[in-house]
Formats: sequence, C-alpha cells, structure tokens
Amino acid sequence: MAVSRPDIRRRPAERLLAWLVTGPLGHLYSVVADLTIMAVTEARRRGVVTKLADQPMSEPRKDSAARVCVIGAGASGIAACQVLSARGVPYDCFEKGSEVGGNWRYGNDNGVSAAYRSLFINTSRRRMAYSTFPMPEDYPDYPHHSQIARYFDAYVDHFGFRDRIRFRTEVTRVEPAPEGPGQGWDVTTDDGATGRYAAVLVANGHHWDPRWPEFPGEFAGEATHAHAYSTPDGFEGRNVLVLGIGNSACDIACETSRVSKMTFIAMRRGAYVIPKYIGGKPTDELSTDFTTRLPFALQRAVSAFMLKQVQGNMEDYGLPRPDHKLMEAHPTVSAELLARIGHGRVKPKPNIERLEGDRVRFADGSVEEIDRIVYCTGYKITFPFLSEELVSTRDNRVPLYRRVVHPDRPGLYFIGLLQPLGAIMPLAEAQCEWVADLLEGSVALPSAREMRKVIEREDRRMRKRYVASKRHTIQVDFFPYLRTLRRERERARGRGGLRARVAGRSHELRVERPA
Ligand SMILES: Cc1cc2nc3c(=O)[nH]c(=O)nc-3n(C[C@H](O)[C@H](O)[C@H](O)COP(=O)(O)OP(=O)(O)OC[C@H]3O[C@@H](n4cnc5c(N)ncnc54)[C@H](O)[C@@H]3O)c2cc1C
Ligand SMILES: NC(=O)c1ccc[n+]([C@@H]2O[C@H](COP(=O)([O-])OP(=O)(O)OC[C@H]3O[C@@H](n4cnc5c(N)ncnc54)[C@H](OP(=O)(O)O)[C@@H]3O)[C@@H](O)[C@H]2O)c1
Repeated sequence: MAVSRPDIRRRPAERLLAWLVTGPLGHLYSVVADLTIMAVTEARRRGVVTKLADQPMSEPRKDSAARVCVIGAGASGIAACQVLSARGVPYDCFEKGSEVGGNWRYGNDNGVSAAYRSLFINTSRRRMAYSTFPMPEDYPDYPHHSQIARYFDAYVDHFGFRDRIRFRTEVTRVEPAPEGPGQGWDVTTDDGATGRYAAVLVANGHHWDPRWPEFPGEFAGEATHAHAYSTPDGFEGRNVLVLGIGNSACDIACETSRVSKMTFIAMRRGAYVIPKYIGGKPTDELSTDFTTRLPFALQRAVSAFMLKQVQGNMEDYGLPRPDHKLMEAHPTVSAELLARIGHGRVKPKPNIERLEGDRVRFADGSVEEIDRIVYCTGYKITFPFLSEELVSTRDNRVPLYRRVVHPDRPGLYFIGLLQPLGAIMPLAEAQCEWVADLLEGSVALPSAREMRKVIEREDRRMRKRYVASKRHTIQVDFFPYLRTLRRERERARGRGGLRARVAGRSHELRVERPA
C-alpha cells in the first residue's frame, strides 16, 4: 500500500468544474439547503412542535382497554414514550439501566453502552434532534456524548414521562399470548412478573452486541472489541492494531495514536472518509429534503465531486481505493483520520491474514509486532428476549415492513432498528407516530403477503446498492425514509376502518395488562 502523490495537475475543464462547484454552484446548493432546512424547521415548529409540546400530558384514554409495552429507554424508546404519551396511548416502558439515553450514557449501568470518553456525535445536532424538541442553540454542531445525554434528559422532563419508565427492570422474555395471534403479548421482566400487552415496541438498540471476527492462529497480546473501549489508557507506548474502517475504527485509531508507539489501521476494503464539514457547513446538512428528490445518480455525482475537492483520493493517503461508489456503504465520518495518517501516527494496512503470537501477518504479506488489537468490526442485531423462531436475526437480517412491522407477528413493532445515512432519532420518532396510528386503529396495514412482497423488494434494492456486509442490512436514506413513512401514514388511512378490522389486519389495542 504505497503512498502515491496526489496529482495536482488538472485539466482546464476540471478546473472550471471545480470552480463552479466550490464557487457559484456550491453557494447555490448551500442556499437551497439552508432554505429547505429553514422551511422544514419552521413547518415543524408551526405544525408539530406546538401541536405536541403544548398539549397537556394526557392520561391513558378512558376508551382504550389495553396497554403497550416499550422495551428500552434509549433514544428510540423515549421517542416511543413521548409519542404514546402525546397520543394518550397507555404504556409501560421497561429500561434495564437506571437512566435514559442508552448508548449515549457513558458508563451506563445497563452495562452495554458503547460510548467512549471522547465520543462526539458524527451526525450534526440539527439532523439528530427530535422534530418536537430542538437541541439547545448554544450546543455545538457536533456535541459531546455528555451533552447528548443531557438533551435526552431534558426531552423526557419537558414532556414529563420519566415516572412512566420502570428503571432497573430488564425484559427477559416476550411471547405471543397462548390464546393465539392478535391476542397480545406476554412480557416477562427480571423481577419474575409477567404482564399481557396488546403490543410491544422493541427499542433495545442494535449497537451493543459485539461482532468478533475470526482469524487463524493465536494472538498473545490483549484483544478487545470497540464496544469495550473507553479511553486510551493502557495504550501508551504500545503497538496498536485497529481493525475496520467504520466510525469506531477511525475514532479509536486516531485517539490511541496520540499515545501509542504506532497505531495500525487494517481493513478488508477501503472507505470514503467524509469530513465533518464541507464549505463551512456540517456535511450531513448539505443533503436536504429537496436535494434527495433529485435523481440518485446526480446526488451521488455532486457529493463525489465535492468530496474529491476536499479530500482528494483515498489512495493519496495510502488507504486502499474503495471497491464501491460513494453512498454504497455506511458513511465513515472522520475529521482526523487522514491527518493522523499524514502525521505518520496511523499506518493503513490490508486485512489481517494470520495471528502469530505477538505478531500479526497482513494480507499483503507484511508482518508487524502488535501489543494490542481493537476489533472495530461492528455489532450483531440481537433480541435476547425473543426466540429465533419468532423473529429471525440470521446474518443481521430482520424482515420488517418499512423497517418496523413484522408481517407475521401482529402487535410486534421495532423502533430505531435502522442504520440511516443521517441520524436515528427523528426517524424513530416518525416510526412511532405511524405505530401510534396503527395502535389507535385509525390506519391499517397491508396484508402479510403484500408486506412480505415489499420487504423482499426493499431487500433486493438494498443488496443491489450496498456493499455486501452484515452491517448493511438495515440501511435507509434519511429524507426518503421520512417520506416513505409519511406516505405510508397517508395511504394507510385509505386502508383503515371497518373493512380492515374485519379482515383482521388492523393492530388496534385489544388487551389490558392485568392489575
Ligand atoms: C459509538 C457509537 C456512536 C454513535 N454515534 C451516532 C451518531 O453520531 N448519530 C446517530 O444517529 N447514531 C449514532 N450511533 C447509533 C446509535 O445506535 C444511536 O445513536 C442510538 O443510541 C440508538 O438508540 P436506541 O434507543 O435505538 O438504542 P440504545 O441507545 O442502545 O438504547 C437501547 C436501550 O434499551 C435498553 N434495553 C436493552 N435491552 C433491554 C431489555 N431487555 N429490557 C429493558 N431495557 C433494555 C438499554 O439499556 C438501552 O437503554 C452511534 C453508535 C455507536 C455505537
Ligand atoms: N458518532 C461517532 O463518531 C461514531 C463513532 C463510532 C461509531 N459510530 C456509529 O456506530 C455504528 C457502528 O459503527 P462501527 O464502526 O462500530 O461498526 P461498523 O460500521 O459496522 O463497521 C465495522 C467495520 O469492520 C469491518 N469488518 C467487519 N467484520 C470484519 C472482518 N471479519 N474482518 C475485517 N473487517 C471486518 C467492516 O468492513 P465491511 O464494510 O467490509 O463489512 C467495517 O469496516 C455505526 O452506526 C457508526 O456510524 C458513530
């Protein structure tokens, strides 16, 4: 992997195009993006924020003889609680830790937070905020995890549902009621209690169960997974090997490289390293509801061109050339990695071939002495409280309609089980609004057969677009996904009502948890 020199000689046409894109076209693009963001924010402020935020907290509706169970009070679970509270749907939320925020609570006593001490978000705060509750204006564009945790606390307190979350209570089993499909779900918690719920909203997160790779040979040093990484303490003066080129790998390679003897970053394929800012704007804010309506090829061409102007080619830094096009892999965002490579403190390597005691052999035949390995190889999707027969997670694939509804398990919904090009929180919130429609019975779902057809079609599209990897099984594009949910809610209205109920398709509430 020799470091090639950047080619600084450009053809006049390319220079003209560069000038256009970074100059007038870039400005136009930014202005349109700004206006779109302002319009969307304003619309939200007028429409949803006042509608929900100013609404008094409603008591469980008198006419509803059923309860819903929410599993988890991370970013997705609290979005579910907020929406259910606002819509007057009675619910119990179980959280195994003592606080809300899940992954964003550093040192969370739930024992599964992947946050490290230096973690900052890599999706900008405006993209990450719930539509009903903006992040404070004095927050930076990319806040620290402690600020994100504070934001979640403020969200819960603003809407006033903290007392409806049962902390330090783990859901250990979820089973369909023995009376048959559509009769609810029996939820057992670690205190031994079992309750009957009309519906279960699963929001247990998908970045907590580490995926470990397997390589031939034995490693004599200390090997950990990114999930266990907390600080660079213990990496001082060591030869460190970080495996992977996702966001964990970049952060951990850069951080350890400040204290290590040398940090190597090994990968089985290259990635486009995306900066946190382009032209002074948070990179994810360049894509808007408007720009994502343009043909995909055009969006990609503009993004690729801008990225090349800012970063050059990945090969220029000694990284492998990505074997795919931009937007065909989950984005690797790092403001630091390329500079750390440029400083000679991080060295790129191809994949590990073999572990040889205190050495590691790489795919190009090179061998390095390594003291510590951090496997930044991603996470498995798991639901320890659901049997595999009930919901299969084989190869990280969970067949869900619109990434929420299990077509064969009425009343079981999954919130935040997606990997967006953008942030999870507003999407989780939109999913919950749709689920609340379903729970109220005001809308209905298509038949299980139709849902399976859509799932298969979306799965085919995803396989075609994304690099074949277990981390690309739940990808969605931020704005198009929001539009899909919106259309789903609109269209579903036509399918709702008596006809759908008679057909047994509607998931309206039916069952009450015994006192
Ligand atoms: C290092 C890292 C950085 C990230 N950075 C970003 C970012 O910048 N932007 C972004 O959009 N996303 C980011 N993500 C993705 C991350 O998954 C989301 O930000 C967010 O945490 C998802 O929220 P969640 O509620 O779905 O899951 P979690 O945050 O994992 O919360 C799940 C909650 O459920 C609880 N729970 C689990 N099982 C049970 C059970 N059986 N019973 C009771 N409670 C249970 C857990 O205790 C936890 O509180 C990052 C992920 C990682 C690992
Ligand atoms: N806010 C932040 O700054 C921040 C920081 C860390 C993480 N995150 C988020 O957290 C989530 C998880 O990120 P992550 O980086 O931990 O995991 P990830 O995105 O799943 O990346 C895993 C990396 O490991 C590689 N890999 C997996 N199995 C491998 C194997 N057997 N051999 C070699 N390489 C292997 C993958 O390569 P392939 O592509 O070939 O599969 C990929 O490069 C993402 O949503 C990410 O955005 C955010």
